Amino acid sequence: MRLFFALWPDDAVRARLARWTSELRAACGGRPTRPENLHLTLAFLGSIDDARVAEVERAAAEVAPRAASLVLDQPGYWKHNRIAWAGASVVPPELGALVADLRGALLRAGVGFDGKGFVSHVTLLRDAREPRTMPALEPIGWKLDGFALVRSVTLPQGSRYEVLKSWRV
Ligand code: 2AM
Repeated sequence: MRLFFALWPDDAVRARLARWTSELRAACGGRPTRPENLHLTLAFLGSIDDARVAEVERAAAEVAPRAASLVLDQPGYWKHNRIAWAGASVVPPELGALVADLRGALLRAGVGFDGKGFVSHVTLLRDAREPRTMPALEPIGWKLDGFALVRSVTLPQGSRYEVLKSWRV
C-alpha cells in the first residue's frame, strides 16, 4: 500500500482550509484537493508491503508527539510542480521535533521514506497557474494533538486518503 505520515486536520481546520482553497483558486485556478483529503505530510513512505505495516506502526509508536499550535498564515505557490499551498511562517519547535523523531524512528526500523527535507505545507490546488498577487487570507490556528498514518487509495476519480491509525499527545 501507498503510505505516508501526516497531520490530519479536524473538521473546523478542514473547513477553513477548504475556504482558503476557493479564495486562492480565484487567483490561480487549478484542481482543488478534496476537502476530506486535506493534510500536512510529515514523511512520505510510498509503497509498503502489507506485511511490513505492523513494523511501520511500531516505529511510529516510539514517537511521543507534543501538543503545539500551528498557525497557517502563508499561502504559497511552487512553479516546479504548479502547486498552491497553505504554509506557516513559523514552524513550532514541537512540529520540527515530531518530524525529526518520526524520521529517526523510521530510519532505525529500516523503513524507507522520501528523504527530501521537510517543508510544512498543505497542498490546496494542483495544476495551478502562478498568481499575480497572493490574496490576503485569514490565518488558520491548528491545535496539533497527534499524527496519523495514512493510506492513499487510487480510484478512477482520483486519490482517496484513509487514516489507518493515529497517535495522540
Ligand atoms: P504534495 O501534496 O506536495 O504533492 C500524498 O501523496 C502526500 O505525500 C502529499 O501531501 C504529497 O505532497 C506528499 N509527498 C511527499 N513526497 C512525495 C513523493 N515523493 N511522492 C508523492 N507524494 C509525496
